[in-house]
Amino acid sequence: MELAYKKQNCAQLNETFIEKDVMLAGWASTIRDLGGIIFVELRDRTGLFQIVADPQINKEVHEVLSKIKPEYVIQVEGKVSKRPDETVNDKISTGKIEMYPTKVTVLASAQTLPFILEDDNVSEDIRLKYRYLDLRREKMMKNFQLRHDIVKAIRNYLNDLDFMEVETPILMNSTPEGARDYLVPSRLHDGKFYALPQSPQVFKQLLMVSGFEKYYQIAKCFRDEDLRADRQPEFTQVDIEMSFVDQDNVISMTEGLIENAFKAANVEVKAPFRRITYKEAMEKYGSDKPDTRFGLELFDVTDIMEASTFEAFKAVIAAGGTVRAIKVPGIANYSRKDMDDVRNLAISFGAKGLAWVTYMESGEVKSPVFKFLNEAQIEEIAKRADAQKGDIVFFVADKPKVVFDVLGRFRLYFGEKLNLIDKNLHDLLWVVDFPLFEYSEEEDRYVSVHHPFTAPALEDMDKLETDKGSVRSIAYDIIYNGNELGGGSIRIHNPETQKVVFKALGLSEEDIKLKFDFLVKAFEYGTPPHGGIALGLDRLVALLTRSNSIREVIAFPKNSQAKDLMNDSPSDVTEAQLRELHLKLRNPKLV
Ligand code: AMO
Ligand code: AMP
Repeated sequence: MELAYKKQNCAQLNETFIEKDVMLAGWASTIRDLGGIIFVELRDRTGLFQIVADPQINKEVHEVLSKIKPEYVIQVEGKVSKRPDETVNDKISTGKIEMYPTKVTVLASAQTLPFILEDDNVSEDIRLKYRYLDLRREKMMKNFQLRHDIVKAIRNYLNDLDFMEVETPILMNSTPEGARDYLVPSRLHDGKFYALPQSPQVFKQLLMVSGFEKYYQIAKCFRDEDLRADRQPEFTQVDIEMSFVDQDNVISMTEGLIENAFKAANVEVKAPFRRITYKEAMEKYGSDKPDTRFGLELFDVTDIMEASTFEAFKAVIAAGGTVRAIKVPGIANYSRKDMDDVRNLAISFGAKGLAWVTYMESGEVKSPVFKFLNEAQIEEIAKRADAQKGDIVFFVADKPKVVFDVLGRFRLYFGEKLNLIDKNLHDLLWVVDFPLFEYSEEEDRYVSVHHPFTAPALEDMDKLETDKGSVRSIAYDIIYNGNELGGGSIRIHNPETQKVVFKALGLSEEDIKLKFDFLVKAFEYGTPPHGGIALGLDRLVALLTRSNSIREVIAFPKNSQAKDLMNDSPSDVTEAQLRELHLKLRNPKLV
């Protein structure tokens, strides 16, 4: 492709260009004046190339370059030459060559930047305020190149399998993915609102009703939830839906996609990936997104504690609770203060208390709960823990959800702290057999673990009304190094089953009619069995670039307060705009 201002890219040049005429354009990255000779590192999207100006060789060029400042945009023309041996730079790909230009043109000047691009310690707030400059950094440019390469590999893979890319609306009704909606007031319909999609879930299922059979979309999703390093209010999913499939079909299609996406990042992974059940994930790792790159598995001591004389634990068990334990090696020398810190950590994770057994190096075994246990019980704990000198075993008693959460987080904490995690592994696994519902104390009803369109396991259909808590679903999550990369399910395609599930979720006939009438109706016109998955693209790219936040792979992200520091959104609107939208603020600012 021809460009008026440049004919080559910096990184394209190598020793084969020596003595050839080239025309480059880009930014003056660094400028050094060494005894009258000026060295400029020219930067474009691809990399760096050294320009040299010697007044003895070309007075005009030297004159122009002596006046430029960092980040000026310049165009240079001339012949590529070989660098003298003593100035060869092995750190850059063009380090063996340079150019003494015959012509330099300043295309744009630049103010002094608010921060130095090479400085890695600039605060994130400043980086986000001047994001367009932050994106000039080599590392950021690489992140976005890789993001592009991954998306390209995914598109190629899906296109080759005859998937069709279809766009679905951004202005729509609420989707039940469980987060809060972003609402958009309607000007034309007084008092009515659109919701931005939390995912294209409903539309992709309707496309299956329409007969599209294989759909995908690189889809923007919006969720108003508390932000973390791996969450943004708007993010991108690789969203997929297929007809005439079962769980194994969706899983193996996704495995091929992941192999290809990882290959774009030069990471070789080999499908099929391991599958573990939700139950096993919780019982062994205390998490539905287990990091299985290290051990420290949890184990059950409920039966031992139930038979003990420890009333606090027995009461928890009698109320339907459980007591689980984790063995941490090599920390038996922890001081009293260390143990207080560990206990406070457990409490910050939601535990009511923390009990332990210390297996001292001296052979002595100590525990604040031994007074409640007999010899055989103490021995059984050591056996289940496979306790060695130097170990501490920690116990937590509570409702299963709390116990798993606390010990799961404990496990990750000690895994990091004791350096047990091999950071070079690429550990991919499926978690399957999720429960269909979970009880929400907050809402005092059962809610969907995945979403209300997820199919119940065939074997558990009869328990939909009688024993909701134990119904399993045909849902699956793909986990990478302890992170949830994506999730999906086989959907309900029978309108009657869909109604039963809505009812189990506590929706009245009226609610169903109001919210999902169109969907249930659509299912009545011949709906193929179908299922799908959505992968978090930002998470995938963040993990493959080893970024510590998805903000590093989103061009213009919001900060942790959901603000865009560059354009200062969300922002005030005028009274006229509000009026047009039929809105009045509850807490108008005092002017
Ligand atoms: P789910 O809600 O599990 O499933 O989302 C799928 C994947 O999207 C990513 N993700 C996010 N990434 C960044 N910021 C967020 N706030 C955020 N929320 C989710 C995660 C997650 O695994 N419609 C279903 C999919 C289906 O059933 O086909 C859905 O949206 O990586
Ligand atoms: P107590 O006899 O109540 O002092 O408790 C003995 C030990 O058990 C203390 O170390 C408590 O922190 C611990 N403990 C109390 N409740 C729990 C609980 N729910 N889970 C784990 N440990 C607990």
